[in-house]
Amino acid sequence: MVLTKNQHPASLLLLIQTIVMKSFCLPSSLLCIALCFSFGSSAQNNLPQLGKAPISAVIKAMTLEEKAGLVVGKGFSIPGISMGETDKSPDKITGISGHSVGIARLGIPSLGFADGPAGIHKFMNAKDSADKLFTTAWPVGTLLASSWDTALVKKLGVAFGEEIKAFGIDFILGPGVNIHRNPLGGRNFEYYSEDPLVSGKTAAAIINGIQSEGVGATIKHFAANNQETNRMSVNTIVSERALREIYLRNFEIAIKSSQPWAVMSSYNLINGTYTSESHDLLTTILRNEWGYKGFVMSDWFGGKDPVAQMKAGNNLVMPGTTAQVKAIVDAVKNGQLSEAVLDENVADILNVMLQTPTSKRYQYSNHPDLKKHAEISREAAAESMVLLKNDAGALPVTGTAKTIALFGNHGYDLIAGGTGSGDVSKAYAVSMAEGLTNAGYKVDKELQQRYQSYLNEYEAKHPKKALLQELLNPTPLAPEYTVDKSSIEQKAVSSDIAILYIGRNAGEGNDRKIADDYELTAQEKEMITSITDAFHAAHKPVIAVLNIGGVIDVMPLRDKADAILLAWQPGQEGGHAITDILSGRVNPSGKLATTFPVSYNDEPSTKNFPGKEFPEKATTGMFGMKSIPAEVTYEEGIYVGYRYFNTFNVKPAYEFGYGLSYTSFGYSPVKLSAATFNNKLTASVTITNTGKVAGKEVAELYLSAPAKTMDKPSEELKAFAKTGLLQPGKSQTITFTLTPSDLASYKSDASLWLAEAGNYTVKIGASSLNIKGTASFNLRKELVVEKDHKALSPQAGINELKPGK
Ligand code: BGC
Repeated sequence: MVLTKNQHPASLLLLIQTIVMKSFCLPSSLLCIALCFSFGSSAQNNLPQLGKAPISAVIKAMTLEEKAGLVVGKGFSIPGISMGETDKSPDKITGISGHSVGIARLGIPSLGFADGPAGIHKFMNAKDSADKLFTTAWPVGTLLASSWDTALVKKLGVAFGEEIKAFGIDFILGPGVNIHRNPLGGRNFEYYSEDPLVSGKTAAAIINGIQSEGVGATIKHFAANNQETNRMSVNTIVSERALREIYLRNFEIAIKSSQPWAVMSSYNLINGTYTSESHDLLTTILRNEWGYKGFVMSDWFGGKDPVAQMKAGNNLVMPGTTAQVKAIVDAVKNGQLSEAVLDENVADILNVMLQTPTSKRYQYSNHPDLKKHAEISREAAAESMVLLKNDAGALPVTGTAKTIALFGNHGYDLIAGGTGSGDVSKAYAVSMAEGLTNAGYKVDKELQQRYQSYLNEYEAKHPKKALLQELLNPTPLAPEYTVDKSSIEQKAVSSDIAILYIGRNAGEGNDRKIADDYELTAQEKEMITSITDAFHAAHKPVIAVLNIGGVIDVMPLRDKADAILLAWQPGQEGGHAITDILSGRVNPSGKLATTFPVSYNDEPSTKNFPGKEFPEKATTGMFGMKSIPAEVTYEEGIYVGYRYFNTFNVKPAYEFGYGLSYTSFGYSPVKLSAATFNNKLTASVTITNTGKVAGKEVAELYLSAPAKTMDKPSEELKAFAKTGLLQPGKSQTITFTLTPSDLASYKSDASLWLAEAGNYTVKIGASSLNIKGTASFNLRKELVVEKDHKALSPQAGINELKPGK
């Protein structure tokens, strides 16, 4: 097995570390649980069969060992590494992240679970595996959320679902929806936004799309899993209000409106309990309050106690070890776990299983329409990129006769997506240089050759190592190639435009660093200065392209580049999609779903990221690596992202909801359906394209609520919509509906959602700071919108940030 350049082995490393820290020494009897795992090969006539007999009859016919076998996955198997599989029969699909155990005598098949949110990932790269199957790399989550276009995301979801089904997979392990709490979060690229509404709606759209094809989505990582540092041991200490309004709210929105077939519990603890062992989270909130109907699986090797996981309602323990099967069997035998509870966990899995392609004996082709999917990937990427700056009409670059000097390694080597389980087994990734060339632009050949030979030479000098060495010591990406000043000056004469391309990558297992990652490197800063000096002296524009997975410091660029295009990590068609925007073939309409601050320290979570470690309690695992107990306290409370920046008047570099277009839009005054709120109220606005080219606008509705008994953010996003493609002079009216829950905040001491009486202001705008019109209404009497259970309470008080404090 050879890891690709962009494939980060941290997840495997952590898995191996975790596995070795646990013991797999088991009585041989348990290794031979009397199951026949090949689905359908030996069904016995007189036994109830899944799909034919009622589920209760199937469960009744199961032995205790079979039940425990079913709620524990089949084990993680990558060629060459054995990890205590519960069932050594061949996997249905090699190289994917997990399988459940089949019980042939009862017609129960083994199901396949594959990563991840941005496309199907095989731990064996498709290039190196026997079947040579490639999959589509879609744009990463952060980019999709920047579309603010749920119809587009659903369309991508349908194509994604077709592909999952065509490869014989039952569940995709995505989407990932955790909140962008801090810019350094190593997996932020897999997630959507700092805001629960954008996050929840985008997730619902992709889940509804995927599941419309008859395969399952797995929403993850439930919940409050916002960092990679000490990810398997960190205790997230957070108030009930911040949980309900921010960290659970996105899951709630997505789950209620899309019923994902599976939920993946996270690695961390919340207020002292592993999420996978939390009855409050998985039963009281998820099932009883939200009405969730699917099943819950653990994250890979997450949590400690499989019996507690069963009691909490974590139906499936993944990827599964023989030790976990034994623990569950023993607990039932010695009365620690009631068999009825085990039966409920089994029933939830079987219920969903009935819908899976494998249960339905779907004959998969292994040949999805990859060409069509590549087109959808390109469309979604182009429709979601965010134009941050465009001075003096630097973009679009009209006329392909222009010669472009492209600076930056990744302009020639696209970062299509992040690393770890979020990587994709893609066949190719179109670089910007290729995209420009395919569109007919002249990319400076000499510069291209210099970069290309530098990158080739680097690769030749740093060949991929054997699997384990690569796991221990991954080959880093090539450092930025330096173009000398005099060459830059010469290019400023011979070319018409400079493109300054900045790339960043990250992924599972590690958070990013401030120096040389969040911040630009000295070399990058130097490159910005010399390129902008030379090209501006020659009166030629410099366009910056950001091919990044998470927020970076844009300040060194902001005042120097003429235009800045935020391409995020745009999937395999990235170079084409970037060129679509650059050429004006697509008018940019993406908006930021995450704030870009002026300084990292402006972020309210920096004080508590990634939290405290307790090294004296560390345990040692494989390769001498340590597992360190840790905790992080969310002292910023609900003031995450723009909720903080707006309320505390901290000016960001680029605010939440911001994004430019090649045209301009006018907003009519806001019209409300009533001046008094009575269970429902609508707000309408008419948007007109007042510029010269066709374009789409995202309208954002924020609400300011009275803050009498509770502190409130100065405003919160409550609805958004994207117009269709408006021709110049054309208009579209958008009507938003507000319901009681949009007015309410969570009152922790009473465990209820309360809308306070008083004056509410609707603010509709083009970003969280660019409000175009406001209108007010009144709520006469305070309203208890929903009464919830007391759950997930912190063990001690949290010194939470409050306005005026
Ligand atoms: C990751 C999950 C992933 C799973 C299976 C874990 O390490 O956190 O997101 O789905 O592995 O690969």
